Amino acid sequence: MRIVVCESPEQVAEVAADESIEYLGLACASTAKNPESTVLGLATGSTPLGLYQKWIERFRSGEISFRNVVSFNLDEYCGVPPEDPQSYHYFMQGNLFKHIDILPQNTHIPHTNSDDLPASAEAYEIAIAQAGGIDLQILGIGSEGHIGFNELGSSFSSATRVKTLTSKTRQDNARFFASLEQVPKMAITMGLGTIMNARAVLLLATGLHKAQTIRDTVEGPVTAMVPASILQFHPNATLILDAAAASKLAHLDYYLECERNQQSL
Ligand code: PGA
Repeated sequence: MRIVVCESPEQVAEVAADESIEYLGLACASTAKNPESTVLGLATGSTPLGLYQKWIERFRSGEISFRNVVSFNLDEYCGVPPEDPQSYHYFMQGNLFKHIDILPQNTHIPHTNSDDLPASAEAYEIAIAQAGGIDLQILGIGSEGHIGFNELGSSFSSATRVKTLTSKTRQDNARFFASLEQVPKMAITMGLGTIMNARAVLLLATGLHKAQTIRDTVEGPVTAMVPASILQFHPNATLILDAAAASKLAHLDYYLECERNQQSL
């Protein structure tokens, strides 16, 4: 695992934008010269908003293009239609897609308005494979260590499926709803196996409330009780943290030294 520690959430967003730039098309590259598409795995929640803002700014300045990007979001609530402002469809449209040149047909978010949710989840997993797999997966992390909606106890080899949300996740997300009762109880989420198949992973975390779960993820045992800890097995996982989220890491000095040495290579 590579650990990058930043001074502020703003810097986390800037560094994440820099780290992801090689996966995005350069605005000046013609489609003919740059036909390969990149498959991005995208996340919702508060944490990636700063990164999405940076992408939008860089797109507007003409630096990057999403013309050749195919995206797959991690998850979607069950029982929330796409046009509902609480849906992740709505979130992605408002916070990223409508501001950039990604082709609507290239964006994917699990369909939860289906009569057959398990079949919908299975079709999503197949669609990811048919797109060639995920090149770069963006992740936030829940306060109990979930990634996507892979709650504690999730199988390390799980594929996209329907999951029941923990009461802690529902409480954490209640801030986006009028009341706790309105927070959905289930979601379709990529599995831990799906995420582990991504060729590179960029996990962002900010704030003191994430410090313990970051410590457990990086320095604790690999356990399904902290689903993000499986990233210790990922060959190309980078965690970009602000100082608060990194504040409980026992080996912080070592991670800082590793980064300084990397820069000098
Ligand atoms: P947050 O959510 O970015 O809003 O903290 C992260 C998550 O639940 O994965």
